[in-house]
Amino acid sequence: MKRSQLRVLGIAGSPRRDGNTDHLLSQVMDGASSRGAKTKTAVLSKLNISPCRHCDGCIKTGKCVIDDDMQWLHNDLRETDRIVLASPIFFMGVTAQTKAMIDRCQALWVIKYVLKLPVAANPGKERRGIFISVGGTKLRNLFEPATATVKSWFTTLDIRYSGELFFSGIDERATICLHPTALKDAFALGQKLAATNTSG
Ligand SMILES: Cc1cc2nc3c(=O)[nH]c(=O)nc-3n(C[C@H](O)[C@H](O)[C@H](O)COP(=O)(O)O)c2cc1C
Repeated sequence: MKRSQLRVLGIAGSPRRDGNTDHLLSQVMDGASSRGAKTKTAVLSKLNISPCRHCDGCIKTGKCVIDDDMQWLHNDLRETDRIVLASPIFFMGVTAQTKAMIDRCQALWVIKYVLKLPVAANPGKERRGIFISVGGTKLRNLFEPATATVKSWFTTLDIRYSGELFFSGIDERATICLHPTALKDAFALGQKLAATNTSG
């Protein structure tokens, strides 16, 4: 990897592989890659990530005491320049897999707010993130509760919330592929995310 190469971390939060958010995420990552970014995707349903126990084991060190895949994901989250979180809406929130991963970032919350140390591995560098989601219904405000969760998580990680891509009324696996613009929109968003200027 070139020193200056932008790192983009994709997080696939759906338990359904090759589903709607997986397709959107893969387009965003391809878009970022087409602009020279170094991409990596973590598929949460394939990882071993226990929920936070609120044991306060991290409170003095900022290191979580649970020895599972969150240990390396914490490092990736601290080192990356961009995050692309993809999760469908489950009962108005993010999926359980996604929420477990987010809650385990309590150790990073401790680093930032208790130990008052930088969360980002390279604190001077701008970090941005986007949220991609779909839901089966067309409910008004469908994405609002999940977005609040994601924004709170990004704030803890010193990530600027800089975009979103939401599609309602998408339920069956891969229905998103029949949408007239969704995949192209996702690719373009990935290109925009990989741009090194601060707009967007
Ligand atoms: C447990 C569960 C809960 C769901 N809750 C909601 C919901 O609250 N609102 C909604 O619009 N769709 C809901 N859905 C539908 C999913 O958001 C929809 O099927 C989506 O396309 C799944 O995305 P994926 O293919 O990326 O997994 C739910 C689906 C499941 C399995």
